[in-house]
Amino acid sequence: MTSPVTLAPETTIAIIGAGRLGGVLATALRASGLTVYGPLRRGDAIPAVDVALLCVPDSAIPEAAASARRTATRIGHASGATPLDDVDFSIHPLQTFTGTESPDIFHGIGAAIAGRTPADKNLAERLAHTLGALPFELDDAHRAGYHAAASFASNFVLTVLDAAEQLAASAGIRGGEARDLLAPLLSRTVDNWQSRGATASLTGPIARGDEVTIARQRAAVDEADPALTSLFDELATATRAIACQKAAA
Ligand SMILES: NC(=O)c1ccc[n+]([C@@H]2O[C@H](COP(=O)([O-])OP(=O)(O)OC[C@H]3O[C@@H](n4cnc5c(N)ncnc54)[C@H](OP(=O)(O)O)[C@@H]3O)[C@@H](O)[C@H]2O)c1
Repeated sequence: MTSPVTLAPETTIAIIGAGRLGGVLATALRASGLTVYGPLRRGDAIPAVDVALLCVPDSAIPEAAASARRTATRIGHASGATPLDDVDFSIHPLQTFTGTESPDIFHGIGAAIAGRTPADKNLAERLAHTLGALPFELDDAHRAGYHAAASFASNFVLTVLDAAEQLAASAGIRGGEARDLLAPLLSRTVDNWQSRGATASLTGPIARGDEVTIARQRAAVDEADPALTSLFDELATATRAIACQKAAA
C-alpha cells in the first residue's frame, strides 16, 4: 500500500486566527515537522510563506484573505460553510475543537477539501494527510447542507443533551452525576446509529407506540421547564417519522 502524500517538510505555513481551531492546528502542524508561524492574531505581521490558512470566523474571511494575499503564495480557509470566493483552497476538519485538544485530534477524522485548481485541491489533500486526517472532496454547491449536517451531529446534540441534563436535575439527579449516568446511554446510541442507522436503532416509547408514556413524559417536561415543551414536541414528531419508517421496513 502506498503512503498518503503529505506536504514537503520545507513548506512554510502561517495560521491566521488564534481561536478554538487555530491554536490546535498550529500545534499539530508544528508537530508534523513543518515551519509554522502563529497562530497569528489580528494586527500581527504575516510573514512570506508558502501557505496561509485562515482560522477566523466566516465573516472575517474576506478581510483576512486580503491581508494574507500580500505575503502568502496560497491561501486557504478552514470553514465548512464558506465558498472559495476569497481563497485558493479549503480544508474543513470534521471535528469539534474547543482549543484544548492535543495534536492527535486530527488522526483518522474526515477533512472536507476543495481547491480552485487541481494544484490547490492537491495542496488541501496533502495538508489533510499531513495532519493524519482523511480527506474527502466537497464542492461549493453542497457546503451549506454539509455544514448543517455537522451542526446536527454536534451542536444540536449538545442542545438536546443540555435539555436531558435539566430534566434529570428536575428528577433530583444533578450536574456531573447526570452526565455520568446518561453518557453510556448516549455512547451506545451513537454506536448503534453508526453501525445500523437511526431506523434500526430506535427504541423507547415512540418506537413501541406507547402513547400513554409519551403523554406522561410530556407533562413532566412541561412541569419541569415549559420552555422545553416545544422542543419535546418537535423531537417527538421527527422521531415518530423514524418509527413509521421502522414499521414500514
Ligand atoms: N471550532 C471548531 O470546532 C471548528 C471546527 C472546524 C472548522 N472550524 C472553522 O475554523 C474557523 C475558526 O473557528 P473557531 O471556532 O476557531 O473560531 P473562534 O474561536 O471564534 O476564533 C476565531 C479567531 O479569529 C480571530 N480573528 C478574527 N478576525 C481576524 C483577522 N482579521 N486576523 C486574525 N485573526 C482574526 C479572532 O480574534 P478576535 O477574538 O480578536 O476577534 C479569534 O481569535 C471557522 O472558519 C470555523 O468554521 C472550527
